[in-house]
Amino acid sequence: MAIIYERKTHIFTLHTEHSTYQMKVDAFGYLLHLYYGGRIPGSMESVPSMDYLLTYYDRGFSGNPSAAGLDRTYSLDVLPQEYPSLGTGDFRGSAFAVRNGDGSESCSLHYVSHKIGKGKYSLEGLPAVYAEEAQTLEILLEDSVSGIQVRLLYGVLEKEDIITRSAIVWNGGSRKIVVEKALSACVDFVSGEYDLISFHGRHAMERNFQRKPIDCGSQVLGSRRGTSSHQCNPAVIVAGRETGEDGGDCYGMMFVYSGNFMCEAERDQFGQTRVMMGLQSDLFHYPLQPGEALALPEVVLGYTGSGLGELSRMFHGVIRNHICRGEYRDRIRPVLLNSWEASYFDFNADTICALAESAAELGIDMVVMDDGWFGKREDDNSGLGDWLVNEKKLGCTLGEMIARINGCGVKFGIWIEPEMVSEDSDLYREHPDWALRIPGREPVRSRNQLVLDFSREEVRNYVFDRICEVLEQGNVEYVKWDMNRSIADVYSARNDQGKVAYDYVIGVYDFLEKLVRRYPHIMIEGCSGGGGRFDAGMLYYTPQIWCSDNTDAVDRVRIQYGTSFFYPASTVGAHVSAVPNHQTGRRTCLHTRGVVAMAGTFGYELDPGKLSEEEKEEVREQVRQFKKHAPLIYHGDYYRLSDPFRDAFGAWMFVSEDRSSALLSAVMLEIHGNMPVQYVRLKGLKPEAVYEDARSHQCYLGAALMNAGLPLPVRLEEYAAYQIELNEKKN
Ligand code: GLA
Repeated sequence: MAIIYERKTHIFTLHTEHSTYQMKVDAFGYLLHLYYGGRIPGSMESVPSMDYLLTYYDRGFSGNPSAAGLDRTYSLDVLPQEYPSLGTGDFRGSAFAVRNGDGSESCSLHYVSHKIGKGKYSLEGLPAVYAEEAQTLEILLEDSVSGIQVRLLYGVLEKEDIITRSAIVWNGGSRKIVVEKALSACVDFVSGEYDLISFHGRHAMERNFQRKPIDCGSQVLGSRRGTSSHQCNPAVIVAGRETGEDGGDCYGMMFVYSGNFMCEAERDQFGQTRVMMGLQSDLFHYPLQPGEALALPEVVLGYTGSGLGELSRMFHGVIRNHICRGEYRDRIRPVLLNSWEASYFDFNADTICALAESAAELGIDMVVMDDGWFGKREDDNSGLGDWLVNEKKLGCTLGEMIARINGCGVKFGIWIEPEMVSEDSDLYREHPDWALRIPGREPVRSRNQLVLDFSREEVRNYVFDRICEVLEQGNVEYVKWDMNRSIADVYSARNDQGKVAYDYVIGVYDFLEKLVRRYPHIMIEGCSGGGGRFDAGMLYYTPQIWCSDNTDAVDRVRIQYGTSFFYPASTVGAHVSAVPNHQTGRRTCLHTRGVVAMAGTFGYELDPGKLSEEEKEEVREQVRQFKKHAPLIYHGDYYRLSDPFRDAFGAWMFVSEDRSSALLSAVMLEIHGNMPVQYVRLKGLKPEAVYEDARSHQCYLGAALMNAGLPLPVRLEEYAAYQIELNEKKN
């Protein structure tokens, strides 16, 4: 049993294989958090209660609820809680705040009842972890004055060491309320000192690693951009001060949501730590009429005592097996050639077909026609919203072009950006009120485009129908779904304004759900100017996401390093592009670009027509190598072997489940005169096994590779890359 309730003590214990989570309903009906961390032994019959951890002292300026009577030692300002709300005498950051019908901002949630069930709960209209082998705990809390109810949901995936949290808010009163803040998870720690690890960035340089102590005062991260954003990824790690890659306590918190979010981390006056995650409270004032409910997106929690590397592997597992869905979830995806950096807006059907011919020649499986094929779209100033194939530009119908491409033995994919509209488009001229705009104000433009009001069904339906008409013109096997701006003017001509930011995301999910159901055979790759919406919410619909618009191999080592803390390689869109690189001007050799792109779904983003015969041969070999190693890259365990923000090299490896084969990749990031030799220590191997380098046939003992490492050859060359395949030698 993963979830145990002890009636006598009113204690709930959630066990996974290596972790335990415990909470208790106390004498006043408050739901207090007791513990989350390494597994505490205990079975159905005897779960050790950890409520001795709660301490009671009279502390100045920490008030007492009236139920405590004259007991000044009981204060919600100090006690660890599961779902702290504003206006209860807890002056730390709160997870929940409502404006009641009478204008007051108080809500005191008390335990009413609970249910334990088989399987994992799901959330209507929202992406969430799915699992049959799981249990759900539902705890109903209520504020008796306003009638507001909050149903806390906990999903426990025992083997995966994962606990999910979500909640449903319901207005059970007789007056309208406005939900001003509603986070999905709060984790309180009564002791210990922690760091917060987060992943910040910018367009074309996403998910840089940042580690900061959680100190007094609160650290607030998040996005108000309408999407999860390039600037801050919706996933954080709470790590013990000493925790490193290979050891120590750490907790992952990953939001399964693609819009505005926040994470608050704070150390309180008594040295206790609170970390919370959920919907961003700015631009969110969600009204609920009596009887209405609001579902809060899910936070996935994971704990390990074995360091950051192990935590990442846990999250990779849950994303690969319990978030990604569909036919492509476990499949090795096609190696693709994307037209964007090959020709930008300047193409016709012959250009795309020429790419297909090159693809066939090089062993590449698919050609993707990127932006520029529809409406009036010769540059990025017009045409969005007019999803009609520009046959004049192509020189033929889409169906004819796809038939030519398929005729070369190559699959076809297409780019779309359904959420957007250009002011210079027929759609906008016809329906100006379909864009998010504030009446009487000039809109904030970005890439000279506006955002469609996806909180409105008729807007989504219209775009959905137009996109389907395109997809049905031929054998389309892949769609790249893009979203190329942040949302500034959060105002809908129809909706309640406090709902728009949230309802927009729900609208995007609704559209995507309809799309994946209607076209289960089409693979969708997510994208938002590269990695501006790289989150677990999108991965529920699109099993891979274009990781960054930056295809520079050296920058990519760092971007993919940051990405790897939560997201597995099978989700990371990565391509080899031309040099000098279009984003940085840097030159790296083709081999290095190939090695780096092989830490993801692999493909090309260049015009093969411009490659020399020698380079073409190298590409052919790269594709062969990728296809050979793909099962390991997609399904193997991932190990980070260096910190490319600090070390002179970036290195990582994939190890098969049975640890009999591995692929080591390394890229030199620095070169100096008389360079000291860099040693890379491998991980995840069997210490006693002998591994053979598939190319040189040199043999090594696993323990030697892990304890002493391998010297990386010194080459007088910038950004040299190494890829070594190791296989266990049986006798
Ligand atoms: C975004 C994407 C690119 C490309 C362009 C097309 O920037 O991230 O890969 O598709 O849009 O406009």
